[in-house]
Amino acid sequence: MALKIGIVGTGWFAGKHADILAAAEDVEIVGIVGSSKKKGDVFGIRYGDAPGYESVTDMADDQELDAVYICVPPMAHGEIERELIERGIPFLVEKPLGTDAEVPQDILGFMRLKAPELITSVGYHFRYQDNAERLREALHPGRIGMATGMWMGDMPQAEWWRRQEKSGGQFIEQTTHIVDMLRYLAGEVEEVSATYASRFPEEEWERTNVHDIGTVTLKMKSGAVASISNTCVLPPGVGKIGLSFYAREGLWEWTPGHLKETRLHAENVYAEESDPYVRQTEAFLHALRTFDRSRILSDYADACKTQEVTFAALQSALSGRRIKL
Ligand SMILES: NC(=O)c1ccc[n+]([C@@H]2O[C@H](COP(=O)([O-])OP(=O)(O)OC[C@H]3O[C@@H](n4cnc5c(N)ncnc54)[C@H](O)[C@@H]3O)[C@@H](O)[C@H]2O)c1
Repeated sequence: MALKIGIVGTGWFAGKHADILAAAEDVEIVGIVGSSKKKGDVFGIRYGDAPGYESVTDMADDQELDAVYICVPPMAHGEIERELIERGIPFLVEKPLGTDAEVPQDILGFMRLKAPELITSVGYHFRYQDNAERLREALHPGRIGMATGMWMGDMPQAEWWRRQEKSGGQFIEQTTHIVDMLRYLAGEVEEVSATYASRFPEEEWERTNVHDIGTVTLKMKSGAVASISNTCVLPPGVGKIGLSFYAREGLWEWTPGHLKETRLHAENVYAEESDPYVRQTEAFLHALRTFDRSRILSDYADACKTQEVTFAALQSALSGRRIKL
């Protein structure tokens, strides 16, 4: 029997996930929640005329759902997840889980109470790369001295992204991927301190109130130290994203497209060949069919820990204090 999937959101990433689901075997997209029914209907034309709905409640009342993909901006989380938890419907939710750490913690608490076994997955897709797997095999958190990471790019066009109260800012919205990879590969974070600034405010970008530069220092439980910087001041299409590990055994430099490994007398470069988004969905669908969730590499509870780190960085930047987790 085909799995019946609903989608919340009609934007860029709802389309990305819907395309992957449409290409998967034995999957049917059965409903789309848009900001209006019409928007959902229009989006659904491309996916077998899946009907539009105004709310997740309407969709869940009308359809037997095996799971829902939640693809909305950070400020829109809360009610959607609670409704699905209440009904015991599994979900895959895009990162970040919210604009702060409280909403996700609240959702997690509700899930533990109402549906502790609920299957969830969070869109930290880099974990599904071949090169992430290579790094997991090569690195031992206890042997890492330092890590340095970055997300250097341009200011996204989306109106919500440019508003602190809607996106949470660049570190929470975007650089969260690097923080999550750091946790996945080097273990948990103990303490953060951050410096953010608005280097080129309003006169360069209209209706923007997010910081446009920042650096975060992270003390790891292992004793290692990491620093992660981000900026959105660059021109469109110019940028640099990556995470490097400095260990007793060598240097590993990861970017979304490549991994370079430098050891004594040995150097290897591995181009990334997998599609981590497809793998992420395959792992989720497998869990829905079999209840084997071992292929899901980031679930809601784990992603809450990444969210705690990125939100602590904001608190540190605003207060000037170090934040212990
Ligand atoms: N994992 C990744 O690589 C990746 C890439 C891109 C986007 N994303 C994430 O996906 C999410 C959505 O991003 P996008 O690029 O699709 O944004 P978008 O602006 O293209 O689309 C957002 C969608 O959410 C809907 N929406 C807005 N406010 C809402 C509300 N209050 N309630 C319900 N729906 C609402 C909008 O109608 C729109 O359909 C973001 O959290 C983003 O970080 C992840």
